[in-house]
Amino acid sequence: MKILEINYINFRNLKDKSIKLSPEINLFIGKNGQGKTSIVEAIYFSATGKSFRTSKYSELIKYNKKKSGCYMEYVDKLSNKSLSIKFNLDKKEYVFNKKNVSYEEYYGKVNVVSFIPEDIELIMGSPSVRRRFFNGEISQSNETYFYNIRKYNKLLKIRNKYLKAKDTKNEMFLIYQEEFIKYGSLILQKRTEYVKNISILLNLNYRKLFDNKKELYLSYSSFLGDIKKLSLNEIQEKFRNYIAKNNIRELKYGYSLAGPQKDDFIFFLNEKEAKSYSSQGEKKSIVFSLKLAELDMVLKEKRENPIFIIDDLSSYFDKTRKKNIIDFLIKRNIQVMITSTEKFKINSKDFNVCEGEIYCENN
Ligand SMILES: Nc1ncnc2c1ncn2[C@@H]1O[C@H](COP(=O)(O)OP(=O)(O)O)[C@@H](O)[C@H]1O
Ligand SMILES: [Mg+2]
Repeated sequence: MKILEINYINFRNLKDKSIKLSPEINLFIGKNGQGKTSIVEAIYFSATGKSFRTSKYSELIKYNKKKSGCYMEYVDKLSNKSLSIKFNLDKKEYVFNKKNVSYEEYYGKVNVVSFIPEDIELIMGSPSVRRRFFNGEISQSNETYFYNIRKYNKLLKIRNKYLKAKDTKNEMFLIYQEEFIKYGSLILQKRTEYVKNISILLNLNYRKLFDNKKELYLSYSSFLGDIKKLSLNEIQEKFRNYIAKNNIRELKYGYSLAGPQKDDFIFFLNEKEAKSYSSQGEKKSIVFSLKLAELDMVLKEKRENPIFIIDDLSSYFDKTRKKNIIDFLIKRNIQVMITSTEKFKINSKDFNVCEGEIYCENN
């Protein structure tokens, strides 16, 4: 899929404008603090209804303004379509093809993969960073998973309330608990399958672009231990046993000690955990390979290439790596938005970014 045009009002420091994008490479060039990240953030935001750098909508609204919005036109394998979001501090409105829709319907229509400097947190940050990331990724091309996660989170809240009140001898609690196990197990099963698939792609990309002498591996680390070879029924069974065994501890703590909200995703480079053993450069390359693997996963699940955003490419890789990366993306026919403080010699649609104003240099 390709984004044809993006339009934004009161978004960060950007001056209201509508810009037409190239279906291939778009390069946003400017000095620091001019609005480069903001423009790709606006694109990401109108595609997903989320920002890649904050969870607070209020930060997106231009200083001293009350509301903001983005509108985009895009084309997928079927036809031209549009998405728009309007929001203020207490309300968000999602529109698809000029009809109001719920967020659930909005999310996943346009798929985007982003690579930003802060993504290094995917290796260095806490398990919750990785869970949030993988939940988002699996959800964007799998509606069932998106539904299951929401359902599970609701059940987890309910279960925690009962545990806190020590009210677990109650029939309702047991009914909720069975549902909790059911949805939790579905999540565990999907994550295990996803990790198995993405790990292979991750390693291929890493070896092709960065270092063909090393092996990169992603592993799913579950509160249930090794569940790779278990069927859904077996996962449920193990889950139920775990809860039975930890009954007293759960009552003592007053919240759930069981469930996929306890799990983690771990990167290994040559069998050593990347978080502790890999160099800074290797960590960047691992995260970049992960993002490329995600492109492949979206293509596999949705049969469409997602859009790829790379914020601040100039600060990441040396010349040869940059060239390898760009060549790789051009070959794949992926629409790319790159921000950089310097120009590259590539065939791209170039935009200058200066004090929130964006203007095209060529056409
Ligand atoms: N809500 C906002 N309203 C107005 N300006 C903002 C808002 N949020 C951030 N800014 C400012 O926008 C400018 C551009 O930020 P950014 O897009 O991150 O720049 P770049 O990526 O080009 O370095 C910064 O000076 C920042 O302080
Ligand atoms: Mg920036």
